[in-house]
Amino acid sequence: MRTETGQVYKLKDYKPTDFVVERIDLTFELDPSETKVVSRVILHRREGVAADAALVFDGDELTLDSVQLDGNDIDPSLFDVDEESLTIRGLPESAPFEITVNTTLSPDTNTKLMGLYRTNGVYCTQCEAEGFRRITYFYDRPDVLAVYTVTIIAAKDDAKYLLSNGNFLGSGNYDEGRHFAAWFDPHPKPSYLFALVGGDLGLVEDTFTTMSGKEVALKIYVEHGKEGRAGYAMDALKRSMKWDEEVFGREYDLDIFQLVAVSDFNMGAMENKGLNVFNDKYVLADPETATDADYANIEAIIAHEYFHNWTGNRITCRDWFQLCLKEGLTVYRDHAFSADQRSAAVKRIAEIRLLKAHQFPEDAGPLAHPVRPETYKEINNFYTATVYEKGSEVVRMIRTILGADDFRKGMDLYFERHDGDASTIEDFLACFAEASGRDLKQFALWYSQAGTPSVSVSTDWNEAAKSFKVTLEQSLAPTPGQSRKALMHIPLAYGLILPDGSEFNGQPQGGEAGNGVFHLTKRKQTFSFTDVPGRPVLSINRGFSAPVNIAMEQSADDLAHIARHDSDGVSRWQALNEQAMRHLVAVSKLARDGRKLPAAKELAKILVDTAADESLEPAFRAQALALPAESDIAREIGSNIDPDAIHTAREAVLSEIATAGLAVFSKLADRAPTGPYSPAAEDAGLRALAGTALAYASIAEAEPVRAKAAFDASNNMTAMTQALQILVHQFPGSDEAEAALAAFKSRFAGDALALDKWYAIQAMAPGAGTSARVEALLESPDFDRKNPNRMRALIGSFSAGNPTGFNAPDGAGYRLLAREVIDIDKRNPQLAARLLTAMRSWRSFEPRRQKLARQALVSIREAGKLSPDVGDIIERMLA
Ligand code: ARG
Ligand code: ZN
Repeated sequence: MRTETGQVYKLKDYKPTDFVVERIDLTFELDPSETKVVSRVILHRREGVAADAALVFDGDELTLDSVQLDGNDIDPSLFDVDEESLTIRGLPESAPFEITVNTTLSPDTNTKLMGLYRTNGVYCTQCEAEGFRRITYFYDRPDVLAVYTVTIIAAKDDAKYLLSNGNFLGSGNYDEGRHFAAWFDPHPKPSYLFALVGGDLGLVEDTFTTMSGKEVALKIYVEHGKEGRAGYAMDALKRSMKWDEEVFGREYDLDIFQLVAVSDFNMGAMENKGLNVFNDKYVLADPETATDADYANIEAIIAHEYFHNWTGNRITCRDWFQLCLKEGLTVYRDHAFSADQRSAAVKRIAEIRLLKAHQFPEDAGPLAHPVRPETYKEINNFYTATVYEKGSEVVRMIRTILGADDFRKGMDLYFERHDGDASTIEDFLACFAEASGRDLKQFALWYSQAGTPSVSVSTDWNEAAKSFKVTLEQSLAPTPGQSRKALMHIPLAYGLILPDGSEFNGQPQGGEAGNGVFHLTKRKQTFSFTDVPGRPVLSINRGFSAPVNIAMEQSADDLAHIARHDSDGVSRWQALNEQAMRHLVAVSKLARDGRKLPAAKELAKILVDTAADESLEPAFRAQALALPAESDIAREIGSNIDPDAIHTAREAVLSEIATAGLAVFSKLADRAPTGPYSPAAEDAGLRALAGTALAYASIAEAEPVRAKAAFDASNNMTAMTQALQILVHQFPGSDEAEAALAAFKSRFAGDALALDKWYAIQAMAPGAGTSARVEALLESPDFDRKNPNRMRALIGSFSAGNPTGFNAPDGAGYRLLAREVIDIDKRNPQLAARLLTAMRSWRSFEPRRQKLARQALVSIREAGKLSPDVGDIIERMLA
């Protein structure tokens, strides 16, 4: 095992393979414990490669039965097998040759959920990043593109459907109840996009006609009995296909598009060519079991995986360092899609919240890494918020800098020039530089420098001269492995809001500042505006145009002016959020010192006014009323954190807002849509506002009665979980909370996805007592520790979503996580490593908790044989 001494992979060491793969034919004979795999690969030696160079294929936990060259067994003296490779010597100098590799696998005992495994009796694969090497020996790397032919043989009663990538070639029967199916994928692809599924599943079908008039068969496979929950996913798929044609000119390129929902899956979903495999959480939905957030996630992830067909599959990555080339870009595309399907401002607000909640702490802690990392030990640990979400923000900045037209030109050029390639970030950026004539060298630092830049902003108004100056200064703190940073190109969208609420349109001197964007490229720059009619208020980083921290002294009055008048909805929310954050940080510090907490009159007034403002979208009002989370406040405070003080402070502020607005909130709480449930954004917005209002009203009344009535009356999962969460979090242990928990559990017994919500709500109940509850739930007989969704719902929600419970002052939360991580690591290292990252900010806590957290981390390090996944995270977190 590679742990602390493990191999380090480096971007600068990239080298193409010695042999070129022409095609690969795979035959699978499926069996739960003895699946036979035959792989025939046609290769030739790359020009210029020495005649005695050996062929080295990757492999992991494989049983090799035999290996042949052009149909003849290879002499044992000419090949070697070790833990991670198969090496073959004495191969032809220039002529193409065929290598046949025979392996045996046991899908039933594959608990890592990488390679070929079984989930609820269904055979299924996950190959990204390095799972194909767990199926057969091969060049398991993204720059080896090959055309695949796949034949699958199985007992009919074991696997009714036999699926793989590409177009269907044919199927037939063998004797003894066995059958086969064959698939051909004409598009050369890397091994990580290979997929196979075999099983008895329910099927939902539809068709889509592409822009050039080709009909594509659409098939979604789900567990029997769940066909009725696949309709929204199908609808989202068709909308995604249409959108990619309209917005990016991208057409689908096979006769068939298939999607399979499975219940054991390490991630969200996987974009295998023509055969996407999904975590069923991101496919299955009906009003009774799925919330509005679930519907929105399904829409986004269906779109994400579909969009990968061009950004990821047709153009893939040269090596895993370039992961953001497909992920950041595809997240950018799914964000743009969702914004078009819903309220763009509300969608953007949710993105900003998520980025700050997940990516900013990553960038500020021991796991910080560039959007394009330059070294890694375990690639699975780099499917991170930085690669995905910050990677998307970087693409968004390219669009901000270039403008919509040149951005589209650059994308077109990228698709045209690199179709069929395994590309790099340099290739990608060159397309935008060429399409726009802009130099993107300094901008490219966003890919190589880790950390969140800070920009301090100061303004100067000269009443006599009617001039206004904005001074911007950037800095970037050191991150692991990067002690010195270069100056970045930071595009900051801005507006100057005049006293009457209108916007000043004059152009400044002092640097590039077209289209309402300051281009900060030096350490410090001053932009000067003249002939400004009255003192303006600066609205900066509008729409979060750059993923940076802004440090600016802005008065509460100025923030309120922005919140009232900014033409951009996202900026209005930013101003409200900033005002709330300042107050919460100040109150938290006082609570920490045991001081009397000040009133929040102004904040309460502006929030209650916003709640009552019928001219604003309900979804926007709900976002405005959602105070920064305890973890957001902790991030803002940055060090020496006491989560209990933050909790106390936030509760006090909530209570003051609730009391001030009780009349408004009790009215809004009853304003959820009444007709049949629709997941559309408008209704979802009304439900979000009603749920938020219900929470505030319940705080003000200090009574569970209203929430219990809402729970009993609810006829959709959104309303039901809103009420349940209020009961369990605000009135823990009350008869109402316990009755609602029991009712929920018995109603959804047997529905794993619905029960995950039940686990998560309990795991996130604030307070030191929750770890005991989590322990009890873990031990309950119907809790399936092997299922990743269950573990994320209980352990993940507790450790990443419960600041006071997980960081309980006695360290019980940390010990619980450490024990579970050690245990999970034996079965499923990827899941273990992912859960462990909840502790990445451990050094920002006060000394006592820090000490307990360190003890827990050290206990993992000392636990014996760790996977490379957990070993790598532990090593970086303790460094
Ligand atoms: N490419 C997939 C997606 O984002 C994720 C695969 C993650 N794989 C992994 N082993 N971590 O759509
Ligand atoms: Zn992706």
